[in-house]
Amino acid sequence: MIVFDNVSKFYDYHTVLRSVSFTVEKGEMIFITGPSGAGKSTLMKLIYKAEDADEGEITIGKYNVTSIKPSDIPYLRRNIGIVFQDFKLLRGSTVYDNVALALRIRGINEKEIRQRVSEALKKVNLRHVSDSNPKSLSGGEQQRIVIARAIVADPQVILADEPTGNLDPNTAIDIINLLRDININGSTIIVATHNRELFRGTGKRVLKIDSNRIVKEEQG
Ligand SMILES: Nc1ncnc2c1ncn2[C@@H]1O[C@H](COP(=O)(O)OP(=O)(O)O)[C@@H](O)[C@H]1O
Ligand SMILES: [Mg+2]
Repeated sequence: MIVFDNVSKFYDYHTVLRSVSFTVEKGEMIFITGPSGAGKSTLMKLIYKAEDADEGEITIGKYNVTSIKPSDIPYLRRNIGIVFQDFKLLRGSTVYDNVALALRIRGINEKEIRQRVSEALKKVNLRHVSDSNPKSLSGGEQQRIVIARAIVADPQVILADEPTGNLDPNTAIDIINLLRDININGSTIIVATHNRELFRGTGKRVLKIDSNRIVKEEQG
């Protein structure tokens, strides 16, 4: 589903990733770890083409991301749900509207939107706060809204970059367990985190990045 083949990324004269290769199978959930500044976020950005690789080849499903036509980038991104550390929710809109937005920009009709938003909010156990403003909810609840927004359009791939960065340890584990449930339902998921507690005991594959390379592969 996701293939990195000898991918390098440089910022000016500074190397962030050097000859990185790995494969994520369809339906797999993996963790990318490593110290702050190791290049985890950069790796995620390469997948949804927020940054361009300087060398090597990246394939996501049927898309060759490195040679993709600019006009195909929106279609690539439709296959990818993104969960950021800082929630990036619209503070002036309800929970419902935050989740619905991803479908509205695709021109889906309101009846179908209602049904899909309701399903997504149910999966993250937030249907009861559909009409609330995200501002009035806890950090863990806000991150669950972000996850509902990422899954509502049923993407093949979910990227979660430090999804628990602002949360207390118990809430962080809840979020990881939620992502694991979503993975069981078939989504391919990559979680980038510097926090080893999040993957300990999960049994998932963990790739460690350090000094620009994948230095270790282990089991969480
Ligand atoms: N847009 C950018 N321009 C220049 N350097 C950058 C940019 N984004 C990230 N970097 C640098 O690339 C390195 C990796 O950053 P990042 O991918 O954010 O690491 P991580 O997510 O593992 O903390 C860091 O040294 C960071 O300063
Ligand atoms: Mg980062």
